[in-house]
Amino acid sequence: MKILVINGPNLNMLGVREPDIYGRKTYKTLVKEIMSHGKKTGTKITAFQSNCEGRIVGKIQKALGKYDGIVINPGAYTHTSIAILDALKSVNIPTVEVHISEVDEREDFRKVSYVRLFAEKCISGKGFDGYIEAIDYLVKRGE
Ligand code: DQA
Repeated sequence: MKILVINGPNLNMLGVREPDIYGRKTYKTLVKEIMSHGKKTGTKITAFQSNCEGRIVGKIQKALGKYDGIVINPGAYTHTSIAILDALKSVNIPTVEVHISEVDEREDFRKVSYVRLFAEKCISGKGFDGYIEAIDYLVKRGE
């Protein structure tokens, strides 16, 4: 099974960015943790991060025929991007939406998620463990 893990804008700033909300662990650590979980579960994981909406759309389009599942934390694009939603719908790959923080308990604008209209599952407020749970969900789904 091949899973593409996409992180959107400012997630490269993990560890520095608002540590009271997102914690002190870095993006590099996140990648290490998901890669090691991939090995444990016999899953091939590719990690991709971009601050650009168009690059995320392009990466999703290119996932067609290459990946069995997508884990996506679109960052702030969660709340604005119909383009990312449409890209996910275009390739129709099973998708789990992840947020490190509990988005539904923050500002009202964070309660809106376009991606959630397509994603099979949304995991939020569980920190880095949310990515692990998302991978496990896709692995189980593919069995
Ligand atoms: C986030 C929540 C978003 O509202 C925010 O814009 C992010 C990170 C999260 O992981 O909790 O960049 O997706």
